[in-house]
Amino acid sequence: MFPPRALPTPEFDVAFARAQFPNACFGTGIADGSNGWAFFENAGGSYVPNSVIRHMTAYMTESQVQPSAPYPQSQLAAQRMAAGHDRMAAMIGADARDVVIGPSTSMNVYVLSKALRPLWKEGDEVIVATLNHEANSSPWRRLEETGIKIIHWPVHPDTGALTVDLLGDLLTDRTRLVAFPHVSNITGDINDVAAITKQVHAAGAMVSVDAVAYAPHRAVDVKAWDVDFYLFSFYKVMGPHIGLLYGKRERLLDAHGQGHLFFPEDDIQHKLNPTGPQHEMIAALAGIGDYFDALAAHHGLMGETDIHARTKQVFDLFAKHEQRLAERFIDFAANRPGLRLLGRHSARAEDRAPTFSFTIDGKKSAEVVEALRAQKIACWNGDFYAPRLLEAVGITDTEDGVVRTSMAHYNTVDEVERLVGALETVVKN
Ligand SMILES: Cc1ncc(COP(=O)(O)O)c(C=O)c1O
Repeated sequence: MFPPRALPTPEFDVAFARAQFPNACFGTGIADGSNGWAFFENAGGSYVPNSVIRHMTAYMTESQVQPSAPYPQSQLAAQRMAAGHDRMAAMIGADARDVVIGPSTSMNVYVLSKALRPLWKEGDEVIVATLNHEANSSPWRRLEETGIKIIHWPVHPDTGALTVDLLGDLLTDRTRLVAFPHVSNITGDINDVAAITKQVHAAGAMVSVDAVAYAPHRAVDVKAWDVDFYLFSFYKVMGPHIGLLYGKRERLLDAHGQGHLFFPEDDIQHKLNPTGPQHEMIAALAGIGDYFDALAAHHGLMGETDIHARTKQVFDLFAKHEQRLAERFIDFAANRPGLRLLGRHSARAEDRAPTFSFTIDGKKSAEVVEALRAQKIACWNGDFYAPRLLEAVGITDTEDGVVRTSMAHYNTVDEVERLVGALETVVKN
């Protein structure tokens, strides 16, 4: 009779989020003994909450043995690893059996490329986006040595945007896979993964999506997007230095094993992680789940019992807050004479993650970073392992590259004010 009243979305409590991290991150005690640093190198790697450290410590102090043997310590080790693995699968809406956790995204893509190559014939084609970080580029390009034809998917030379309208011309009946990023670690632009995947599938090919620069900022939904392979790294998502590969079950089963020869082809976990699992780090992933639960509880979201849905609610809080951070930066940087900002000049949460890369006329990017460092603003310059993208937008000195300032949900508007204030001075002088 009465339509249910929509609950107001709570405001994200950034102070609460910051209180979940070690004191050295936002309190006193950072490496030089002082603090007051504003941290904008989040696209390089995020801070890690206490919950992750607690899980890692518990594993190493109480269960640092070979897991899965028939004695209590070993059983506990296995349980803890399964808890970390399963929680991450649930957070992205995947079945835990379709998730492989390996050493890094670079390694996971490398293994995947080797695992898929036997399915293809000489002359088959792989489309590789220039927008990629090398992690989702080099392994596919290396297949050229084995007779695979690499097709380059260019970017817009002014903005670095993916040229989505050109994809149709690149796809052929020989295309086997399209490798592209969900978000560029340089431009911050969010690509429409579902739409691109649909187009690629219509041409009979599959996708390998690098989500390393996406996963810290917005909720992942691998089933809804229908992606074949989707990868990201936990050290950018408040966790340890390991990476996740999701694949559709049938794709994972078809892929050829790259591990020890005795692992059967239906043992997805072992055949696609030749290094073997990083025990304590996988166990520590449960701490990311605890962090999201703490945020959900604090913001009154624990009524949602489905982990995937609840994770999305927490990411919605991040998105609103990050948009506010992005608005302040875009307000400063977009259309500013003397400053070239790559990517979309939009702060909308649907359009971009709060990762900004730019150059300043007449200044080396290293000089800009030094000026910011002097004001205790942490960021970096360079090509961030995406030199092809920088070259494609006309930045020839890729070593000096762009200045990148990247924000996370735990940054504050005050910190962005400091960044913008410091950059105002740099642009003027
Ligand atoms: C967009 C993107 N893809 C891939 C990687 C590589 O991830 P990993 O260090 O886990 O290999 C990075 C690392 O910075 C990245 O930013």
